[in-house]
Amino acid sequence: MTPSADARPKAVMGTDMRTHLGATQIPNPVLTASGCAAAGRELDPFLDLTALGAVVTKSVQLRARSGRATPRMSETPSGMLNSIGLQGPGIDELLRTDLPWLAERGARAMVSIAGGAVEEYAELATRLRGARGMVALEVNISCPNVESRGEVFACDPAAAWAVLAAVRAADPGVPVYAKLSPDVTDIASVARACVDGGADGISAINTLLGLVIDTDTLRPALAAVTGGLSGPAIRPVALRCVWQIHRAMREIPILGMGGITSGADALQFILAGASAVSVGTAVFGDPNAPERISHELANALASKGFARLSDAVGFAHQSVDFPA
Ligand code: FUM
Repeated sequence: MTPSADARPKAVMGTDMRTHLGATQIPNPVLTASGCAAAGRELDPFLDLTALGAVVTKSVQLRARSGRATPRMSETPSGMLNSIGLQGPGIDELLRTDLPWLAERGARAMVSIAGGAVEEYAELATRLRGARGMVALEVNISCPNVESRGEVFACDPAAAWAVLAAVRAADPGVPVYAKLSPDVTDIASVARACVDGGADGISAINTLLGLVIDTDTLRPALAAVTGGLSGPAIRPVALRCVWQIHRAMREIPILGMGGITSGADALQFILAGASAVSVGTAVFGDPNAPERISHELANALASKGFARLSDAVGFAHQSVDFPA
């Protein structure tokens, strides 16, 4: 069934792009994606960080990490495979340099945290309580490049619940999003466990676990063998995940991501149920991509007659009767 002609939005002059991360209002639904531009400094020469919904920082851990062995990136058809291994300076350095740098510019920060144990997530959330400029936490429970699959908490609803409950207890006030993996049978059940644990929203999706073999060396292209696949190649998978989570929990905000390179791509995520989007791999080819995409999305929404971004969230579900 298609929506009746009357149900379709009429043309409007401009679109109200405001949205929310949990209870916090942000002016723009386009954010960066964790892991593709550290804490935003690399993008600063190319775009106005303050105009974005937020800068989502590279997942931070309690201690500095050098990451996995090189090579750790490989180009794939319409995508990229990475096994960075959560390289980063650690929470002390983030609090000392990067978050103040973002705050001084007036940029909003969504801080991504990662850990190998529930207690580590709780400690990170405690350390970040009240950090200047931080508008939300993204709890990365889905990095595919950890030493053991047992650390991919997002592959087990009970483990995901435990992490989110600990983070929520550590900071009852901050908007918390759980970042999920598509490499599960039923992503909606993992999302529900995270919400039951205390998440305000869901970030979907992290990369898919993949492999490239170098036909010159006859060995895996990445030193870590497997890596996380990102870029346009994964967009239909990401959209399917956003669709399924929205269908299961219509009231829960979703930060959608996975291969967004244009406003039309972003619009697909909004129509599937995301109330904001993150742009990641696209910045490697076009560091202005998040700003460009936010303009393209605003134009796309206006051209389809949406007066408010919020009117378009989940619009594609209208009149779709089957459950998936
Ligand atoms: O290897 C990495 O640092 C990737 C992290 C992630 O995808 O969450």
